[in-house]
Amino acid sequence: MTLNRRELLKVVGASLASLAVPSLNWAAQSPKYYTLPPLPYDYDALEPSIDKLTMQIHHDKHHQAYITNAINLLKSDAKLLEMPPEKLLMDLSVVPEKDRQGVINNVGGHVNHTLFWEIMGPKGGGEPTGALAKAIDSRFGSFDKFQKEMSTKAATQFGSGWAFLVVTNKGELEVVQSKNQDSPIMNGQKPILGIDVWEHAYYLKYQNLRPKYIEAWWKVVNWKAVSEKAATAMKG
Ligand SMILES: [Fe+2]
Repeated sequence: MTLNRRELLKVVGASLASLAVPSLNWAAQSPKYYTLPPLPYDYDALEPSIDKLTMQIHHDKHHQAYITNAINLLKSDAKLLEMPPEKLLMDLSVVPEKDRQGVINNVGGHVNHTLFWEIMGPKGGGEPTGALAKAIDSRFGSFDKFQKEMSTKAATQFGSGWAFLVVTNKGELEVVQSKNQDSPIMNGQKPILGIDVWEHAYYLKYQNLRPKYIEAWWKVVNWKAVSEKAATAMKG
């Protein structure tokens, strides 16, 4: 009997399926806190500020890699794997010392990027309104002064890292620089807005021109999302 191409593929597919081994428990059920959150908009939705290819690689590859690495670090201790990542970052003493830096890098990377996707969006930009606008004016003098401070901190972060707008443990707004994937959560601060200044966030489109990327990034900030985060963080 001679099979045509379609029939042959069917047979091969069936044979391969019969060979499939059930996944091992931890891999079978994606850990609750360690799955890649879907991007809340299309890959090209932030064009022209952030290009489609950068978004694809950044979200699907870089963010996924932090998640995969975090799972590999935590999977031997179910208690750690089942803890909310923010809680883990708040108390790193529960993590064995040999794994601590890896957790800072990878759980931090997961948490930072989750925030990053949420605080951007198409039709973003402009300025916040309401309580957040008032809090920014009161803390920084004006929105322009705040924007300048955050842009400067993002531009001058040496090497890879972030600039964040955080709510401190005293309930005040502050702009902080952060190296690598260090999360402000480790310092008791609640990040409500963050700009990723790792080269993977902008190099395809902006090459060495980080300030140009920062300028364009403000046009995709979703202030509604940031305001909601601010309200929650200020409530404590
Ligand atoms: Fe990133």
